[in-house]
Amino acid sequence: MIRAAFLAAPLLLAACGSSDAPTESTDSASSGQAQTEAVALTGEQIFKRCVACHKVEKGAASGLGPNLHGVAGRAVASVEGFNFSPALKAKGGVWDDANLDGYIENPRTFVPGNKMSFAGIKDAGERKLLIEYLKEQK
Ligand code: HEC
Repeated sequence: MIRAAFLAAPLLLAACGSSDAPTESTDSASSGQAQTEAVALTGEQIFKRCVACHKVEKGAASGLGPNLHGVAGRAVASVEGFNFSPALKAKGGVWDDANLDGYIENPRTFVPGNKMSFAGIKDAGERKLLIEYLKEQK
């Protein structure tokens, strides 16, 4: 059901050449949907851009970034034992869809002075898949 909402995403991905999913379809009788799925990135694959710094497993130690298990709906900068920047601590609120989307799109402008060194994900469809994935990690 997540995929269905993003049938357009693979086209964009193919256009900018950033998809590392297999692009070959050998099934001559395949429907358009099967071909779409062959190139679709999943939220889990997109999360690979975050794993250098973040874990999502329950109880896993924070790394360079805080553990993201259950981050959706959680209060901002509330992981115990992680040394958050004053900027992120001052933000307040919870990680709802809108906040996650804004932060992942451009961490630097969404929370000026925060210390997540990540350029951001410009593709709205990719961000949505990633946020759905994060919501499942609880
Ligand atoms: C280079 C390391 C690095 C990468 C890559 C990175 N992050 Fe982070 N992330 C951090 C750091 C450091 C913080 C804490 C920022 C602060 O305290 O100012 C953070 C904080 C966060 C928070 C806030 C967590 C909380 O408990 O308040 C979220 C959400 C988040 N990152 C999501 C992501 C996602 C999603 C990705 C991949 C698209 C990602 N990050 C990639 C280092 C990283």
